Amino acid sequence: MQIKKLTLTGFRNLADLTLIPDRGVNVIYGENAQGKTNLLESIWLFSGLKSFRGAKDSELVGFGKDFARMELDFFAADREQKAVMTVANARKATLNGVSLSSPAKLIGKCSAAVFSPAFLSLVQAGPAERRRFLDTALCQFKPNYAAALSQYNRALKQRNSLLADVQGHPELLDMLDIWDTHLVNAGEEILQLRKEYLSLLLPACAAVYDGLSQSREILSLEYMQKDNTDGKFSLSEMLKVSRREDLFNKTTSVGPHRDDLGIFINEKPARVYGSQGQQRSCAIALKLAEAQILKEKTNEQPVILLDDVMSELDAGRQDYILNHLDNRQVFITCCDPASILRLCEGKTFEIADGKIK
Ligand SMILES: Nc1ncnc2c1ncn2[C@@H]1O[C@H](COP(=O)(O)OP(=O)(O)OP(=O)(O)O)[C@@H](O)[C@H]1O
Ligand SMILES: [Mg+2]
Repeated sequence: MQIKKLTLTGFRNLADLTLIPDRGVNVIYGENAQGKTNLLESIWLFSGLKSFRGAKDSELVGFGKDFARMELDFFAADREQKAVMTVANARKATLNGVSLSSPAKLIGKCSAAVFSPAFLSLVQAGPAERRRFLDTALCQFKPNYAAALSQYNRALKQRNSLLADVQGHPELLDMLDIWDTHLVNAGEEILQLRKEYLSLLLPACAAVYDGLSQSREILSLEYMQKDNTDGKFSLSEMLKVSRREDLFNKTTSVGPHRDDLGIFINEKPARVYGSQGQQRSCAIALKLAEAQILKEKTNEQPVILLDDVMSELDAGRQDYILNHLDNRQVFITCCDPASILRLCEGKTFEIADGKIK
């Protein structure tokens, strides 16, 4: 997928503009609050997903404007295409002149991967963020994963409410066996697919990290099952062992909903020991690896949007991002014009007060 032209009218603080990007790296630079993230957001919205800032549709319309209109000319699936999106209260989209019932119908048509500073929580926050990362990544190309996940969540809810009800009603214990079986069936499928995904993610992620750190550090990933660190037990065995504790606490203490994706730099947990630059590098590597796998699965290279990646990265790491993400169209925002002096090929756009200079 390659963006040929972006045309914006009435979008956030941005002046009406047309941008013809490079097929490789595009750096958008400028001072704070000039519209850099807004520009990336406008591209991202064509992925069909919600804004990566969690913005409501109405917030996309420039102050005092009635509507926003965005046009994207792009090359994907071996042909020139055009998507148009308008926002008044809600977003509406057309693709190649045909109205879509919802902007979500654009999913998979013009794919993008975004890194925003909020994504650092993937490394810095608790396991829930990392499970969400795995779940979202897998749902994008494994429909059976999404199905297993919703079955699992339903069984988990039932099991937890049963655990709460069983006290004083021992006859309900038989029901617990039934829900354990549902939980195990869906849970084992989730575990298998997550592990398969990790076997793709690890080499892709380690390769990016190796490039970022100029082979000075090694990144590794590990699927970490709660109370089953060496993976000796099946989910069914773990549920049996934990049942007493689960009955006491009225909640299910083991299973994929409690697992984690361990991220290590030189074998030490990045969350605990990683420096800011290392944690940022991990998050970028994960995001780029996710996009790489998506490319292998869908045969379409997503456009890479990197919001504010340069800060906290040293010259070597910046150089890797600017000059070594080959065969990908990349849009990078940054504040410091010095960073872009290192750009060997590609285009730069200075943005001030919503206008491209
Ligand atoms: N709907 C809107 N209409 C007009 N202006 C808006 C709208 N939404 C946001 N803005 C303004 O757009 C400006 C630029 O925001 P943006 O997040 O793109 O800045 P930025 O260049 O990425 O800055 P930073 O370097 O601080 O991240 C902000 O001042 C914001 O208040
Ligand atoms: Mg910004």
